[in-house]
Amino acid sequence: MTAGLAVAIVGAGRMGQEHAAALTAAGDRVRWVIDADPRSAAALAGAHGAESGTDLDRLLATTTPDAVVIATPSEQHLSQALRCAHLPTLLEKPPWLGDQDPTPLVAASRVAGRLVAVGMTTRFDPAICSVQKAVSAGRIGQVLSIDDTINFVLGDESLPAWYHQPHHRGGGIVQTNGVHALDRVSWILGELPRLVTARAGSTARTDPIEDSATIVLTTDTASVTVNVLWSQYEPPPTRLTVVGTLGTATAFADGSWQVTTIDGTEQGAAAPDRNNYLTQWHAFRAALADPRAPSTIPTVYDLVGPMTLLSQTIATLDIRG
Ligand SMILES: NC(=O)c1ccc[n+]([C@@H]2O[C@H](COP(=O)([O-])OP(=O)(O)OC[C@H]3O[C@@H](n4cnc5c(N)ncnc54)[C@H](O)[C@@H]3O)[C@@H](O)[C@H]2O)c1
Repeated sequence: MTAGLAVAIVGAGRMGQEHAAALTAAGDRVRWVIDADPRSAAALAGAHGAESGTDLDRLLATTTPDAVVIATPSEQHLSQALRCAHLPTLLEKPPWLGDQDPTPLVAASRVAGRLVAVGMTTRFDPAICSVQKAVSAGRIGQVLSIDDTINFVLGDESLPAWYHQPHHRGGGIVQTNGVHALDRVSWILGELPRLVTARAGSTARTDPIEDSATIVLTTDTASVTVNVLWSQYEPPPTRLTVVGTLGTATAFADGSWQVTTIDGTEQGAAAPDRNNYLTQWHAFRAALADPRAPSTIPTVYDLVGPMTLLSQTIATLDIRG
C-alpha cells in the first residue's frame, strides 16, 4: 500500500470534515482543501496544516494530489468527478443526480488503472456488512423479502439549505438517503431489482421536495420495500430486515445485527464507536494498492444500476403534501 497519501478535499462541510478526520486517522494527509467558501476552506485546511483555495481547476492545473475526496453538495458531484477522474477519487453519494447523464464519467472511470469510488458509507456499517455476508453465504436461503427503513428526526436547521432544494439541485430524501437503500438492497440481493412503484410525501409541507418516500421493488423471487423519512417527531427505528427461506437477518441502527435460522440465533453487539468513514477509507486505500483484488468499495460503474433505479423513482414520484 502507498504510504502517506497527500489528499485534496473538495468541499469542507460536514462530510469534508468527516473524510479529513478519517484519512488522517488512517495515516494519510490532507494537503489541499478546496471550497467555494474561502472561510470554510481555510478553517478545514488550518486544522490539518493544509493549503486552502476556492478553485478546483487551478489546483488540478498546478498540483497532482495522490487522491481526491469530493464532498460538495450533490449537484456538483458529476462535473467535479469528471475533472478529477484521472486521479484516484472518492466521490460522495449520490455520484450524480437522477436526471443527469453519467456516461462521460463512467467512461472516464473505466480507463485501466483508474479508481473513482463512491462513498456508499452504509455498506461499511458492521450491521449492514454482517447481513450482506449472511445472505451471500446462503445462511438464510433464498431471499423472499427485504424491508429497508431509514428514518431521521430532522429539525428545521438540521441540514444545509441545499438538501431542501428540488431534485435538479440535489435535494430531497430520495437522492439523499434513498440512494443508500437502493444501493445496499441491490448489493445484498446480488442483483438489480426492478422498480414497481414509488410514492413520496411531505410531512413538513414547506419544502419543494419530499421528506418521506416508499419505493417498492421486485426481483423474480423477492419483494423489496424501501421506506425513508425525515420527520419532526420521533420516527420508527431505522433497520434493514431480510427474510429468506431458511431464516432472517436484521441490521439495526446502532450497528448491532441478528441472524436467525432453524439452528438458532447469532447476534452482533451494538458498535457505538464504529467509524464507517474510516473503514471506507481503508477499503479505498486497499483498492488503490491492489486494483486486481476483490474490492469492497463500489465504483461509479457499480452505481449505474442503483442510480438507474433512483432516476426511475424520481421520474415517477408524486409528492403528496
Ligand atoms: N456517505 C454518507 O453517508 C453521507 C452522509 C451525509 C452526506 N453525504 C453527502 O456528502 C455531500 C456533502 O454533504 P454535506 O452535508 O457535507 O454538505 P455541506 O453543505 O455541509 O458541505 C458542502 C461544502 O461544499 C462547499 N461547496 C459548495 N459548492 C462548491 C463548489 N462548487 N466547489 C467547492 N466547494 C463547494 C460548501 O461551501 C460546503 O462547505 C453531499 O453530496 C451528501 O449527499 C454523504
